Amino acid sequence: MVPVTASLEVSGLAFAYPDGHQALFGVDFSVARGERVALLGPNGAGKTTLVLHLNGILTGGAGTVKVAGLPVDKRNMAEVRRRVGIVFQDPDDQLFMPTVREDVAFGPAAAGLKGPELEERVDRALERVGMAEFKDRPPHHLSFGQRRRVAVATVLAMEPEILVLDEPSSNLDPASRRELADILRSLDVTVLMVTHDLPYALELCPRSLILSDGVIAADGPTGELLSDEELMRAHRLELPFGFDPRSVPAAAARP
Ligand SMILES: Nc1ncnc2c1ncn2[C@@H]1O[C@H](COP(=O)(O)OP(=O)(O)OP(=O)(O)O)[C@@H](O)[C@H]1O
Ligand SMILES: [Mg+2]
Repeated sequence: MVPVTASLEVSGLAFAYPDGHQALFGVDFSVARGERVALLGPNGAGKTTLVLHLNGILTGGAGTVKVAGLPVDKRNMAEVRRRVGIVFQDPDDQLFMPTVREDVAFGPAAAGLKGPELEERVDRALERVGMAEFKDRPPHHLSFGQRRRVAVATVLAMEPEILVLDEPSSNLDPASRRELADILRSLDVTVLMVTHDLPYALELCPRSLILSDGVIAADGPTGELLSDEELMRAHRLELPFGFDPRSVPAAAARP
């Protein structure tokens, strides 16, 4: 068999904030190309800290992060940022241009795309999230759910190797939550999704990681982890009232 390069390889990652607070204590995992993986864990576990290492927003701790085999370091930063698309929890951290079109074009234009090629890239990204008809609208006139979709489009327009989403379903109404799940399922891209929405993780991600106190406490099939009551209790994870993970068909892995 030909060895396949993982989309993401994190090894021995430890990090303390400048005030001395240590958030990560040696995190190891890898994500294969095309996998969809949920990153679960209680408040303060280190999930966002981990995400901020994936494209080098935070650096300087111990250990390594590799994206498609490329170490995340100063030398590779531009390439890493093209390959890792992060959708932040708050779309307003991501949208700052006068129109949706300009926001989605911003990254690809900075990467050198122009003319019809750029327009085509923008159109394709907006179509994938069902926002094509909003192209000329100002992002700040859109609803929260619509802004979340545009934020996803800004990242898809970069054609990333890996799509990282911090709390993608938060503040979405049930229909928007389901539509975003349909969009994520339709994408042919590696996904790492931070979420407190455990049914969403089960529906979308065949595999989950539990990050707790800055270490990976569990790594396995989402349905198995969510059904392990002791594990769930130990890491302050709670299913919605009446939700039985065994009653839901597990997310299918991509062929
Ligand atoms: N800028 C900072 N300076 C110092 N400590 C920080 C900073 N940001 C986060 N921390 C601490 O690092 C730990 C991990 O925080 P992080 O934001 O990564 O948690 P999280 O898993 O994303 O939590 P949540 O589910 O609440 O989003 C927490 O104890 C937090 O207080
Ligand atoms: Mg967080």
